[in-house]
Amino acid sequence: MREALSAIERSFREALTAAGRDSAAVEAVRLRFLGRKGELTALVKQLGGLSPAERPAAGASINSLKAEIGEALDRAAATAAEAGRRAALAGDRVDVTLPGRRPWTGSLHPVTQTLREMERIFRELGFTVESGPEVEDDFHNFEALNLPPGHPAREATDTFYLAGSDLLLRTHTSPVQIRTMQASPPPIRMICTGRVYRRDLDATHLPMFHQIEALVVDEGITLADLRGTLAAVWKRFFGDTVEMRLRPGYFPFVEPGAEYDISCQVCGGTGCRACKGTGWLELGGAGMVHPAVFEAVGIDPERYTGFAFGLGIDRIAMMRFAADDIRLLVENDVRFLRQFPI
Ligand code: PHE
Repeated sequence: MREALSAIERSFREALTAAGRDSAAVEAVRLRFLGRKGELTALVKQLGGLSPAERPAAGASINSLKAEIGEALDRAAATAAEAGRRAALAGDRVDVTLPGRRPWTGSLHPVTQTLREMERIFRELGFTVESGPEVEDDFHNFEALNLPPGHPAREATDTFYLAGSDLLLRTHTSPVQIRTMQASPPPIRMICTGRVYRRDLDATHLPMFHQIEALVVDEGITLADLRGTLAAVWKRFFGDTVEMRLRPGYFPFVEPGAEYDISCQVCGGTGCRACKGTGWLELGGAGMVHPAVFEAVGIDPERYTGFAFGLGIDRIAMMRFAADDIRLLVENDVRFLRQFPI
């Protein structure tokens, strides 16, 4: 009996050492030695086989080992629980001195921001904001704009046609000029913002991009009104230091026609990569409404004159936000977009 007891004590010590500071392992050791099917319980059952004289001493030894094992297990369990608590605390540590995390909020796309800013400026100047369909017919997109079938200038922009119909995706916002003049008589002072489509794609061209169209029709409108309006718009948008120039340009729906540039907003006009060293950036086309356009919509060209201009919004957004590739504007990469919160 004595040998059996010391064998149990030895294997208990080994098992407890092996369990270390793992609470679950310590409890497994408790079950193995003190449980109802444990090694000490098995020994108690053997007491019946001893002589009455031997029984009391053997029983007492079993009980004292049982008590000893119980105490050792309790200490080990307490140590394991404490170690577990410390580990949890170390793992969950919160540094209360860290700055808080800012909640993530969405924001307007840079193109939308630019569009809204331009609309605000034109509204201040007394313009109405019109809109027209993106799927257009040949008449509004070309013919009424003095671009009859077969006109060579139709080739200048590669058009998306809708299969099985004579409809197309508008190649510019100029058809909204036609729709506005058809809908209401002069005086007209309108802009239109919207998407336009051309078969193009590289670092400075997208197959879908945004334009703003402006049209003013009244008696006595001159080229000076066009120039003054453009200058006012750009000063409001980019600030007083911006310079503007008109160069002769050809668009079938205006006469005279012009292309216009502003001083490069990246380098301030001294010449850089963005303006290809010229100091100027081309923004769009402009001119006095061609009499043939007035005739197509039934406005008397002897009585009324007008000016129109169009400009690409995506290029302006690029300049405003110093983006060097226009494709950034359509890829929707949040690492780019979140730099321009509003
Ligand atoms: N619609 C022309 C284009 O897309 C721009 C333009 C508009 C030119 C109005 C003159 C007058 O290129």
